[in-house]
Amino acid sequence: MNKIKRLHLLKTLYTYQSLGIEYTDDIQDLNQTRASLKSLPNDLQALKNITYNCHLCQLSKTRKNVVFGEGDIDADIMFIGEGPGANEDETGKPFVGKAGELLTKIIENVLNIKREQVYIANIVKCRPPNNRVPTPEEVKSCTPYLMKQIDLIRPKIIITLGATAYNNLTNDKTPISKIRGEILPFGNAKIIPTFHPSFLLRNPSAKKYVFADMKKVKGIKDEGFSSNH
Ligand code: URA
Repeated sequence: MNKIKRLHLLKTLYTYQSLGIEYTDDIQDLNQTRASLKSLPNDLQALKNITYNCHLCQLSKTRKNVVFGEGDIDADIMFIGEGPGANEDETGKPFVGKAGELLTKIIENVLNIKREQVYIANIVKCRPPNNRVPTPEEVKSCTPYLMKQIDLIRPKIIITLGATAYNNLTNDKTPISKIRGEILPFGNAKIIPTFHPSFLLRNPSAKKYVFADMKKVKGIKDEGFSSNH
């Protein structure tokens, strides 16, 4: 076996190991391995541990910390952003920089609940270098973890922040400016797309749209998540 083949084999074996596989009879294609992420654990802590050892995409090479997500594991409301930035990469926590401060204000002042009462995650769990948009390949590698997280937390409302979160979670490529504020079915939950807090920092005049979108969320929450909006 030549050196390249050996390195490829080693990488595949590390990937299996990161998925919790302890033994394999034969080495399958990595794409098949991704599909088998369906068998991820039904336990958030175990899932977190798997992501901490994930090397499925190139972001794993440059990350300092995996940003798994945080909040109430029984939250009715879940926020999904794009991906960790520098502060999040440093701390391992989502939305802790300037955009995070604004998100916290939105949660506390408009939804009238504490940040700890929602769950916050991202489309990708490792920082894309220079805060670039994650590539389709990176999103594809990471999506099963997020879907499993949603599955386990079972939020009633998912608020996607910005185009990357909405477009990738739903596969709908409608521009965020057209779709924001809509209430859309997503399995047993509803998705409400809105602008990303980083966009609001650059465009403060758009805050009124997010305020309107969050008022809708508050209305649904105050009705016990039972309304048929
Ligand atoms: N932007 C995001 O999309 N996610 C974070 O966690 C921080 C900034």
